[in-house]
Amino acid sequence: MAAYRLTLLPGDGTGPEVIEEAKKVISAFEEFGPISFETTEIPCGGQHYLETGEEWPLGSFEHCRDNSDAIVVGAVGWPGASLPNGDVAGGQVLLGLRSALDLYANVRPVKLYQGVNHKVHGSFSDVWDHSLVDMVLIRENTEGLYHSLLRRSAMSAQGGEKDSPIVIEKFPGLEGEVEWDARPISRMGSERVIRFAFELAKRRSTRQKSPQKVTCVDKSNVTRGCRLFRKVFREVSAENPEIETNEAYIDAFSMWLVRNPEDLDVVVLPNMFGDIATDLASVLQGGMGMAASANIGDNHMLFEPVHGSSPKYAGKNMVNPIAAISSIQLMFETLGARHDDDDAILCAEVLEGAISSHLSSNGQVTYDLGGKASTSDVGEAIATRCVEALSSMSS
Ligand code: IPM
Ligand code: MN
Repeated sequence: MAAYRLTLLPGDGTGPEVIEEAKKVISAFEEFGPISFETTEIPCGGQHYLETGEEWPLGSFEHCRDNSDAIVVGAVGWPGASLPNGDVAGGQVLLGLRSALDLYANVRPVKLYQGVNHKVHGSFSDVWDHSLVDMVLIRENTEGLYHSLLRRSAMSAQGGEKDSPIVIEKFPGLEGEVEWDARPISRMGSERVIRFAFELAKRRSTRQKSPQKVTCVDKSNVTRGCRLFRKVFREVSAENPEIETNEAYIDAFSMWLVRNPEDLDVVVLPNMFGDIATDLASVLQGGMGMAASANIGDNHMLFEPVHGSSPKYAGKNMVNPIAAISSIQLMFETLGARHDDDDAILCAEVLEGAISSHLSSNGQVTYDLGGKASTSDVGEAIATRCVEALSSMSS
C-alpha cells in the first residue's frame, strides 16, 4: 500500500500537545507496522490568527482538499481570538473544512473502557458494568443551527463570494435589539447522515455479533426542521426493516442517555443537539479526555478529539491525550474501510488493543482519570504498547 497523505492541524492550546502524542503513536505504526504516511503539518487556529492575522497559511484549504487522504485536527479556538465579524478565529479551519469538504457525519463513539471510571455523580465511583456504555453518536455536521457559520467559514476558506444574507425585517412581538440564527434542515442533509447511521449499525451488528439499534433524537414535537429529520428517519428505517429503531426528543434523551446508556447503540442527531449531547455523553466514558471523533464525507475524512484547546491547561503537559490517540484509531479504521486496506484495519485493531490494555492493566493516566501521569507519559506508554504488539506479531 502506498503512503497515505496525512495533514496535521495541531491548532490552539493543548491541541499541539495531544497531537504530539498522536504523532508518537503514528510513528510506532510506521516503524513497526504495515502502514506509512506522508505527513504535512500546518499551523492554524486562534493563536495563529493573533500572531499572523490569518487563520492558516494561504493554500492550506486546497492542501486539505486536494492532497490529503486524512486530516487530523488538535483543537481550534482561543480566548480573545475572534474575527472582525465576531466569529471564532480558526473557524475557517474546522468549520470551513466540515462544510466545504461536505464532512456530513460527525461520528463520536462513547465507550467506557475497563479500568476507567465514569463521572456520573461527579465522582470516580465504579458502580457500573463497563459494557453498559458502548454507543456511537452521529451528529449531522453541515447544516442546522450551524448552517450560516459553516457557510461563512467555508466561503472564507475557499476565498470566494459571500452568501447574500437572509433578511428578516422584524419578529412580531419582539421589540428592541434582536439577534437570531436560522436552523435549516434539508431532506438531502438528513437522508445522507441517517443512511450513514443505518450502515454503521449494520457493520457494528456484524462486528459485535449482536443486533444494533438506531435511535433518532430530535425535537420534532416543536420544530419543523426536526419534523423533516424524523420523517426521513422513518423512510430510511422502512427500507431497513431488519434494523430495530427508536425515537426520542432531545430533552428526554438527555435523561435516558445518563440513566440507561445500555439502551443505546447508534444514535443520530441534528447538528446542535449532537454537539451538546456528545459533551454530556463523554461523562459516561470518563470525560472529554476520552472522547474521539471522525468527521466523514464521501470524499474526505477528518479526525479530532472532541475536547477544545483547554487554555487553562495549555503548556502544562497535563491533559489526557487518549481522545487524540483514539481519533488516530478511528483514522486507521476509516482508511482501512475506504481503501479496502486490511493492513490499516489491523493497525486499528492493534491500537484499540493497546489503549484498552493500557487502561485495564492500571497503566499511567492523567489527572482527569485520577492519575498523576503527564500527557507525554501516557502517549509514550501507549506507543510502547503498540510497538510491543506489532513486534510480537512479526516475530
Ligand atoms: C465541537 C466543537 C465545535 C463545534 C466548536 C469548536 C466550533 O464544540 O467540535 O464539538 O461547536 O462544533
Ligand atoms: Mn462541541
